[in-house]
Amino acid sequence: MSSQNKLNIFITGPTGYIGGSVLVRLLQYPDSNCFQISALVHSSTKAEKLKTLGIRPVLGSYSDLDLLTREAAEADFVITMTDSDALPPAAAILAGMKQRHVKTGTIPKLIHTSGVAFVMDNAMGMHGDHPVYSDLDIDAIEAVPDTQFHRNVDIPIIAADKEGYLMSYIIAPANVFGTPTGALVDMGIQNEHSFQLPIFYKIAISRKQGGYIGAGKNILPAVDVNDTADLFLLLFNAIRSNPENVAHGREGIYFAANCEYTGYEIAKAISEALVDLGIGSSPEATSFTKAELKLYFRNLWPLLAPTCRPRADRSRALGWKPHHGKDALLASVKPEVEYFFSKVGVNKYTNSCPIAYNSRL
Ligand SMILES: NC(=O)c1ccc[n+]([C@@H]2O[C@H](COP(=O)([O-])OP(=O)(O)OC[C@H]3O[C@@H](n4cnc5c(N)ncnc54)[C@H](OP(=O)(O)O)[C@@H]3O)[C@@H](O)[C@H]2O)c1
Repeated sequence: MSSQNKLNIFITGPTGYIGGSVLVRLLQYPDSNCFQISALVHSSTKAEKLKTLGIRPVLGSYSDLDLLTREAAEADFVITMTDSDALPPAAAILAGMKQRHVKTGTIPKLIHTSGVAFVMDNAMGMHGDHPVYSDLDIDAIEAVPDTQFHRNVDIPIIAADKEGYLMSYIIAPANVFGTPTGALVDMGIQNEHSFQLPIFYKIAISRKQGGYIGAGKNILPAVDVNDTADLFLLLFNAIRSNPENVAHGREGIYFAANCEYTGYEIAKAISEALVDLGIGSSPEATSFTKAELKLYFRNLWPLLAPTCRPRADRSRALGWKPHHGKDALLASVKPEVEYFFSKVGVNKYTNSCPIAYNSRL
């Protein structure tokens, strides 16, 4: 197939925990030889390695707005998996997609990665009493304040769909856990660890005991990384097969969420892992003291202890069948704690604020 006839796919975050898992699946897609995949990457080493997989690396940053517009203007399909909350890059991508529509008359498609945090409350660890939000209940989702997490980007994307120059699909994952596999992991260029749960692992390593915020009663949603990536591909496939039948725009919100846990449950599992690994002495978890909240979370601790209860009804109606639930989540705790401990031992996380640094360690 000549490169002119290929489906041009532009993805951002191709080496991320989620993005790498999605890219691997795109490469395994039955007619992937019909794709020209361009991938934004800000490491030249990773760019070279992506080339060996037949990907066209676009070397640059998510803050290179002109570059994002240019690349989006060449794409039939854009999949963003870098930053749910950065509006200027999202706006630059929308501008490029608009240019493509004006130039070609086609309607490019955008799958954007958001997060379920826009339906969370401010439980501060004290309760799990918060409404369940279905991704089919668009009125309820639209009733959340525009100031909720991720809405700053999701709302303009939905508005662009309404304007008609693109079709938008927003995937909103819960707290992602699990182990990615595939070519990018084998090449050593994919993040293999999530973000939010490891904050609690790192802090627990430093205090040698699992900790929870408030009473640990807040309920949080979770989803496996491979199940999450499967949803991206299921959606991608459905859009390619018959876009008119796939909800988009204001209705095109797809939760990726498959189980729930409380702040206490995860802290207890961490304590047990620490005992098993010979780091901790008590299998019980304790509530963080005021001093610990300040030390480890600064003033951000309420953001880590909401109740958030999304239901992935629209995703399931599309055919999504996640395989990994709460047992898998709890089973993932010990290897994760072991991994972070093996990297730096207890000292790295003492007197520091794990939430404040970007490093995966
Ligand atoms: N993980 C979760 O639990 C979760 C849950 C809900 C929503 N999300 C959202 O999903 C998105 C992806 O999450 P993730 O866990 O996969 O994150 P991640 O592992 O950190 O992946 C981010 C990707 O973006 C790339 N990147 C970061 N900054 C960049 C920049 N300035 N320029 C170009 N590329 C850049 C990274 O490249 P390098 O690796 O080379 O730096 C990586 O490929 C985020 O928006 C996140 O908020 C994640």
